[in-house]
Amino acid sequence: MLTAALAVAALAFQTVSAITLEKRAVDYYDPTANGGSMLDKVGDTGLGEPLNVIISGLSSRDVLTDDGILNYARSIGFSEECFGIHQGDPQAANLGDGNGWVNQTVELRQDYGSAGIGTCLESVIGGNHFRIWRQNGSQADSGALFFAVSQEEPFTEHHTIVPDGYNIGRDRLVQNAVGQTSFNDVSYSTVARNITGLLAPGANGVNHNISTDGIVTLLTVTIL
Ligand SMILES: *[C@@H]1O[C@H](CO)[C@@H](O)[C@H](O)[C@H]1NC(C)=O
Ligand SMILES: *[C@@H]1O[C@H](CO)[C@@H](O)[C@H](O)[C@H]1NC(C)=O
Ligand SMILES: *[C@@H]1O[C@H](CO)[C@@H](O)[C@H](O)[C@H]1NC(C)=O
Ligand SMILES: *[C@@H]1O[C@H](CO)[C@@H](O)[C@H](O)[C@H]1NC(C)=O
Repeated sequence: MLTAALAVAALAFQTVSAITLEKRAVDYYDPTANGGSMLDKVGDTGLGEPLNVIISGLSSRDVLTDDGILNYARSIGFSEECFGIHQGDPQAANLGDGNGWVNQTVELRQDYGSAGIGTCLESVIGGNHFRIWRQNGSQADSGALFFAVSQEEPFTEHHTIVPDGYNIGRDRLVQNAVGQTSFNDVSYSTVARNITGLLAPGANGVNHNISTDGIVTLLTVTIL
């Protein structure tokens, strides 16, 4: 009887271990703990934009791939930039993972309802957009995705960020993401948690001298 109970317990333990192993071990590693920064780099201006949303490394693995994050982004109202029209140069980030400063993998803009056309419209009237980096170097391999999210002014000559645009951009993205979303027959459940003490609040070194509240929102995304 006791043996049987132990066997069941051991089996349960094994199952839990197996599930844990399929996922990465941590939400993220603090980039600043290993020479990185929670601000990206905007060219050689010496300024940067805040990495204000993190997709946890404990999310379903498929979400953390290039294709997976695109599909997820579409489920929360974003798509790839309109026909390759691209405002400005890529920005670089150092996630303290041993990869140094690397350019963003992709830039996504808000999709106003129809893929392609939506992002073109967004390019004209402004909106929410974000850039993505992956923390996957040999020194900090969480697999987490770091986003620099901002809310832009309507397009005039070039895109600029609205006052308070980093906080607003983050909060709007998170509002769209939390709960259940789906795209292409993939359904997602997203949970948010705010982190302080990672990104310094204020405007020191921040592009456009726009102050932030220092909150980074961690999203854990599970494929249902
Ligand atoms: C990053 O982007 C800049 C601007 O387009 C480019 O000059 C630079 O070569 C890129 N760096 C890498 C490592 O691809
Ligand atoms: C890390 O992610 C980048 C894109 O963000 C990718 O180009 C690179 O191949 C990845 N490296 C590893 C070791 O998976
Ligand atoms: C995170 O902080 C923002 C800004 O204060 C707030 O609007 C939001 O409700 C918070 N989210 C969570 C999950 O605590
Ligand atoms: C940034 O804004 C603050 C107050 O809003 C102002 O005092 C400061 O001079 C500005 N700095 C720059 C470099 O524009």
